[in-house]
Amino acid sequence: MSEDLTPIPPASCVVVSGGSRGLGLALVQDILGRGARVAAFARSVTPELAALAAEHPEEVYVEAVDITDVRAVEAFVRAAGNRLGPIDALVNNAAAGQDSLLVHTAPDRIASLIETNLTAPLLLTRAVLRRMLAGGRRGRIVMITSVCAQRGYSGLVVYAAAKGALEAAARTLAREMHGRALVNCVAPGFFASEMSSALGSEQLDTITRRTPSGRLVEPTDIVPLVRTLLFEDTNLNGQVLTVDGGSSI
Ligand SMILES: NC(=O)c1ccc[n+]([C@@H]2O[C@H](COP(=O)([O-])OP(=O)(O)OC[C@H]3O[C@@H](n4cnc5c(N)ncnc54)[C@H](OP(=O)(O)O)[C@@H]3O)[C@@H](O)[C@H]2O)c1
Repeated sequence: MSEDLTPIPPASCVVVSGGSRGLGLALVQDILGRGARVAAFARSVTPELAALAAEHPEEVYVEAVDITDVRAVEAFVRAAGNRLGPIDALVNNAAAGQDSLLVHTAPDRIASLIETNLTAPLLLTRAVLRRMLAGGRRGRIVMITSVCAQRGYSGLVVYAAAKGALEAAARTLAREMHGRALVNCVAPGFFASEMSSALGSEQLDTITRRTPSGRLVEPTDIVPLVRTLLFEDTNLNGQVLTVDGGSSI
């Protein structure tokens, strides 16, 4: 097969993990707004996500799937491709948070955090890429990581380890795909969501004080970066785009 050296086309059909609420739901809405089709899953389908699928049956496919259930994830990717057409992009967004010192985190909990936040996203990436490459298509992969991958935050050791590993994986995958996929990460700082609800107002005030832009991150700061990585003709590849108001500089 001769190498295609033209720019990778904009995404036309995107899988979003954890698309039921928070940042994931905002991404599903934005991708749909760009005229692309979107397949989203989470362990439970929220009324907001179900309403989108009901309103746009030709463009949106949703299902309740646990990302750690490898068979169910592969079946979801297959069903999404059959319903919406060839998949050419993935946003690895689903993740589980942590709020415990390493010394107080049980071995089972460590294994489960690594499974949800690292192993499962890699297996989902594998499933999407295998279908995409088998169909002779090229595409885009975006990993939602975290500033925790680059800077230390107490209580997040295992979560940070998984996010850092995803960033390392993205760099190597970008090289491995060699022009068949652009693979990048978006690393947000703290933003309000169910995941970060464990943070008290004192901790949020401290983070805000330490943020040079003077305000916490919002999903509306993150969505345009993911949109760029999915749809624009950029030559960004193997990169981590940090959006945290400068708190980690
Ligand atoms: N919030 C922050 O401060 C922050 C900062 C930096 C990075 N991030 C990253 O941003 C991304 C989105 O986070 P968020 O704050 O929007 O979190 P969130 O509100 O807790 O949403 C997480 C999403 O992932 C899904 N999910 C969790 N475990 C899953 C599983 N086992 N299988 C399938 N789906 C699962 C959840 O749905 P179900 O529970 O129904 O499964 C939900 O749709 C994550 O990658 C997170 O690590 C967040």
